[in-house]
Amino acid sequence: MDYNRIQAVHFEKKSGTGLYPVDRFGPESAKRARAFHQSFPEYRPTPLVRLDALAKELGVGAICVKDESYRFGLNAFKVLGGSYTIGSYIAGKLGVDIADLPYGKLVSPEIRENIGEITFVTATDGNHGRGIAWTANRLNQKSVVYMPKGSAKERLDNILALGADASITDLNYDDAVRLAKEGEDKNGWVLVQDTAWDGYEEIPAKIMEGYTTMAVEITEQLAGEKPTHVFLQAGVGAMAGAICGYFAALYGDADRPVITVVEPDKADCIFCTAKANDGRLHFVTGDLDSIMAGLCCGEPCSIAWNVLRDHADHFISMPDYAAAEGMRILGNPLANDKRIISGESGAATAGFVAEVLRNPALYELKDKIGLNSESKILLISTEGDTDRENYRRIVWDGLHPSYQA
Ligand SMILES: Cc1ncc(COP(=O)(O)O)c(C=O)c1O
Repeated sequence: MDYNRIQAVHFEKKSGTGLYPVDRFGPESAKRARAFHQSFPEYRPTPLVRLDALAKELGVGAICVKDESYRFGLNAFKVLGGSYTIGSYIAGKLGVDIADLPYGKLVSPEIRENIGEITFVTATDGNHGRGIAWTANRLNQKSVVYMPKGSAKERLDNILALGADASITDLNYDDAVRLAKEGEDKNGWVLVQDTAWDGYEEIPAKIMEGYTTMAVEITEQLAGEKPTHVFLQAGVGAMAGAICGYFAALYGDADRPVITVVEPDKADCIFCTAKANDGRLHFVTGDLDSIMAGLCCGEPCSIAWNVLRDHADHFISMPDYAAAEGMRILGNPLANDKRIISGESGAATAGFVAEVLRNPALYELKDKIGLNSESKILLISTEGDTDRENYRRIVWDGLHPSYQA
């Protein structure tokens, strides 16, 4: 169905024993990831901000936004995945449990000596690579980071500042991933990629486990209150799959919140896969040109898709203007609501929720998702202003080269 340039695919809720297992992302496993992150000196739970005035204005019961701009001073959630994976990789090499390898031990000279020099390689729009570079830097190890063409200079500079051998390539995201894979094959580097494909699943699954630290914090911050609707933005879908999996495991599928996955229409590979629903992954190719740089991925993460296929309800493909709207709404709070600086990918779900609740052309979609005055909405602002120039251009001027209102 086409709703005013926003497209949606709806899945019937599934039940039974044959669903893709989500234990790996459930509360027990998530607590292990959180315990690891807790051992970092800069660990603090990121704020869960209640936007009561916005909820009232939009006619819903509650809107809570997890603000990941506060994560480890890195302005995005992504480091949770990379750090947990590198920690787990080193634990595996040493033959110890990750629970016995907290930060203090991990960065010790003895461990460095024991494992020798490792080069971690990855492809990234910015946030994931920054997390890998940051972790490698802390461990006194090396990192190589490939960025797709058109990546923001500020994002590159942030990665270079962490000592990575980083560059902006002439490739789109998915081809940059292939280049990183070549680095592993030819040079013996360790590929830490935040997407899975046939034969490359263990590391991305660990990255997804790392993301569930956010979900553990959210559960604690909600203190027993259950969201009715969770909106998750997707690039390759690993973050959405991990958080969706967590809630499906926590509440069980019968009682879990309604899960909606949101993507830019220029890189809507999860949406296309859901739309076809033919047992195959569907790719989007070309420049993947959206302001939502973190979501500009054309090939879904296979594990994430398996989770989302069986445990998510709605799949949205939307134009850039909706994300820009989300950035402005979060950055300009009503009444006593707290300001959230949310970047293009971070604000995608807030923008979609605002559109679906405010735009009369989308009322049918609003009903289909089941949003009403009782709804308790959970969003994750996955990044702050990681590209400050574009942030200002969008929030101040409402302009971007690829922005078409
Ligand atoms: C800020 C931000 N939000 C969301 C995502 C989406 O995560 P995933 O690629 O796991 O779907 C990314 C990915 O890089 C990101 O950088």
